[in-house]
Amino acid sequence: MKKYFSLLLTIVLVLFIVNLAVADDFTDYEAGLNYIHPSRSNGNKTVTKNMSLGPGDNVYHNGTTLLCSQCHVMHASMQHPHDGQTLPDPFGPYPQTYTPSKYLLKAADPVALCLTCHDNVAGIPDVVGADVNGLTARSAGFFESPGVDNPRGHKLDYGLGGSSSLCSRCHFSGSFATAAVSCIDCHNPHGNYRPRNLQWASDPGGEPQFGLLINPAATGMSRYEKADVGFGTTNDNNLREVSNMCDDCHHVFTGSNYNDPDGNGIHNRHPSYDSERGSTNNIAQGASRGTTDPTHWENGTGAGFAHTPRLRFVNNGATDFTSSQVVDANINGVFCLSCHSAHGSSNAFGLAWDPVVGKNGEGCDQCHNKTSL
Ligand code: HEC
Ligand code: HEC
Ligand code: HEC
Ligand code: HEC
Ligand code: HEC
Ligand code: HEC
Ligand code: HEC
Repeated sequence: MKKYFSLLLTIVLVLFIVNLAVADDFTDYEAGLNYIHPSRSNGNKTVTKNMSLGPGDNVYHNGTTLLCSQCHVMHASMQHPHDGQTLPDPFGPYPQTYTPSKYLLKAADPVALCLTCHDNVAGIPDVVGADVNGLTARSAGFFESPGVDNPRGHKLDYGLGGSSSLCSRCHFSGSFATAAVSCIDCHNPHGNYRPRNLQWASDPGGEPQFGLLINPAATGMSRYEKADVGFGTTNDNNLREVSNMCDDCHHVFTGSNYNDPDGNGIHNRHPSYDSERGSTNNIAQGASRGTTDPTHWENGTGAGFAHTPRLRFVNNGATDFTSSQVVDANINGVFCLSCHSAHGSSNAFGLAWDPVVGKNGEGCDQCHNKTSL
């Protein structure tokens, strides 16, 4: 009896310690999802797939460009290509044989599958390391190879499961510092008529339409050129700023209750445009207190612009590429993609400028003009 009592005591103690260690973790998953996206429709996915605003039109891996045999193989072998298939095939010469993999995928892991085409294949956007297509700057930037720590952006890795295991990458047993990402966290492999097939990692299929606006004059690989992509928002689910999909994993970096908890207008975390969680901003708003310098931003020369082209901004009200390009401090908002590239870059933290000594505040000064030149 005594033996059992001490065992019980140990269990209670262990549970107590574990509970202390995860004190910041949530317990109700559904409530957790609603906390991340308050505009979420509680599993009742009311947002329709095909929306008339346009940014989700003609996105590859959708509808007629969703070709099952690009990613799946039925019997793990193929003696010859399908009719009309363009060669060479990134998966190699025929006959092809595969190691049978889950979901009949042509690779052991979704990341490896995507990278067979999306790394070093001319004519397909290249998302890792050097760019085989030679674009000036890729809109999303670029990753390191999977499994390699990446201090210049997101770390890709294999073996990451679907949405169910997403939370435990940073909560419970996991930690933010050692976590990693998979392509299909952020992109729907079967297409969702959103630009770049972007999705809410925490609630795939529940996402609104996103304001990532591609220059309609751009064709071929230039559709992925940084200069040919602009950003807009109508501040509702018809067209939400695209950085809304970052909140799924970085939920405490944005929203007014994190950026300015006491609501006095003096920020405790840097503001990032968030129309879903009540934290919109524009560069002109700091003029009265002198925190920002709207004229300097609009002029686009001097401090901050010496080495770095104008940072990207989200234009309040813009629903097409042309209106997204208007430089006006009253409607230009600062958001995640002003400072970071979504995949990564050649700079620390995937930043849009090189924050080394001597020009550490380069990007900052475009809006703040604190370093007199
Ligand atoms: C761009 C690559 C890609 C294409 C093209 C593609 N799939 Fe998939 N498919 C995947 C990946 C990756 C998974 C695994 C998803 C996961 O691990 O959660 C998957 C999983 C599936 C699944 C099982 C899970 C689910 O979502 O239901 C089915 C069924 C499926 N695919 C059918 C199809 C069909 C049918 C087509 C053609 C109309 C197709 N796929 C085209 C990448 C693709
Ligand atoms: C068989 C080769 C192949 C595979 C495998 C593949 N893709 Fe693609 N992907 C393409 C091609 C081709 C395009 C379109 C390039 C163009 O615009 O001409 C494309 C375009 C895209 C785009 C941009 C869509 C747009 O129109 O803006 C995304 C995002 C993307 N792929 C994600 C993925 C992900 C995620 C996976 C893995 C689940 C994947 N792809 C697997 C060939 C592939
Ligand atoms: C599926 C979850 C997920 C989503 C969605 C996501 N991130 Fe991350 N992010 C992570 C994880 C995990 C890390 C930490 C490990 C790493 O570097 O990948 C991270 C790290 C980062 C870092 C630090 C990189 C470094 O070099 O230390 C930046 C910057 C970042 N994310 C920005 C973004 C932006 C911007 C978006 C939206 C476009 C976004 N993230 C969306 C999971 C996510
Ligand atoms: C990239 C890492 C990362 C991922 C993935 C992630 N979170 Fe978080 N989450 C954090 C960080 C960091 C905090 C703030 C510190 C904390 O409270 O632990 C946080 C805080 C929270 C909080 C507030 C906790 C509180 O009471 O303070 C909730 C709720 C939450 N996350 C839910 C989720 C859910 C649900 C998922 C999965 C869909 C998820 N998180 C996935 C990093 C992550
Ligand atoms: C953390 C979220 C995240 C992950 C993980 C991610 N992407 Fe992306 N991806 C984005 C966002 C956001 C954009 C659009 C950003 C922009 O245009 O500034 C994008 C853009 C793209 C594009 C268009 C090219 C470009 O430079 O804009 C392709 C193709 C693509 N992703 C493929 C992939 C593939 C393949 C993987 C896995 C190897 C992957 N992505 C992983 C968020 C992600
Ligand atoms: C005004 C510029 C700016 C904006 C806007 C911004 N960031 Fe950052 N972020 C930075 C800088 C600079 C760093 C590097 C750390 C530092 O210097 O404080 C950083 C660091 C990070 C990190 C790493 C944090 C860590 O603990 O290592 C993540 C993750 C991140 N940002 C995500 C985001 C997301 C998501 C958004 C949008 C909600 C965002 N950032 C908006 C400038 C910005
Ligand atoms: C694209 C424009 C933009 C960039 C780039 C930018 N900021 Fe900001 N920043 C803003 C705006 C807008 C505010 C809100 C100003 C206000 O409400 O007073 C702000 C607020 C701040 C504040 C708080 C001021 C306050 O009183 O609330 C600090 C500090 C700050 N930024 C520092 C930085 C640093 C450091 C960088 C570079 C890592 C940076 N910012 C990059 C636009 C920007």
